[in-house]
Amino acid sequence: MKTPAMKGSMFKHFGSFVQAEWGDELWEEVLETAELETAGPFLGPANYPEGDLLAIFGATLRKVDKPLPELLRSFGRHLVPQFTQDMPAALEGRSEIKEFLMSVDGFVHAEVQKLHPDAQPPKLVCEDVGRSELEIHYHSPRQFCHLLHGMLEGAAELFGSTAACEETACTHKGASHCTFHVTVSEGVAS
Ligand code: HEM
Repeated sequence: MKTPAMKGSMFKHFGSFVQAEWGDELWEEVLETAELETAGPFLGPANYPEGDLLAIFGATLRKVDKPLPELLRSFGRHLVPQFTQDMPAALEGRSEIKEFLMSVDGFVHAEVQKLHPDAQPPKLVCEDVGRSELEIHYHSPRQFCHLLHGMLEGAAELFGSTAACEETACTHKGASHCTFHVTVSEGVAS
């Protein structure tokens, strides 16, 4: 049976997030105290058990004063600029946040899947529901909607914009998938 796996880049970027927020020493303590199947280091292109990432989240929560949804949301804000460094083509030719978000499923994650056939990015179905509005349907067995929330904010930041996100349905509350109503502001050219 295929056990759920997660790309090493998620581990690597979570490490850089914890180090940036709370310092290298705290990250070392997290790795020492988390009960992991894998002895690190975590390399970007490899796969590791998803349970190890959850154990790392848990060990981080025991060290810092934040609830899990907030931890995931701030990690999401940190993650987008890291991912765009991993794949600069993700931003090429994109001048607006809305256009970028609409390209994540069919272009960005599709490219990730081509490069790493074993990756399991989520399904993000975007509906254009107004000039500055989107409805995003998030399908993932991982149920990381709080991470997605932060990623939407982090993506908007890259475009000098903001994304006000309202989660109108959530798997943690019994829905079949999570839905976000997203209102983006006009970007500010930098
Ligand atoms: C910009 C370039 C991006 C790259 C290179 C990228 C790549 C990836 C990779 C490698 C994973 C891990 C998949 C796995 O472990 O099997 C992932 C997961 C994820 N990505 Fe992206 N991504 C990008 C942008 C985005 C954006 C902008 C969003 C949302 C607005 C997004 C939403 C997510 C979410 C929520 C996950 C977590 C896994 C899940 O929920 O199932 N990604 N992405």
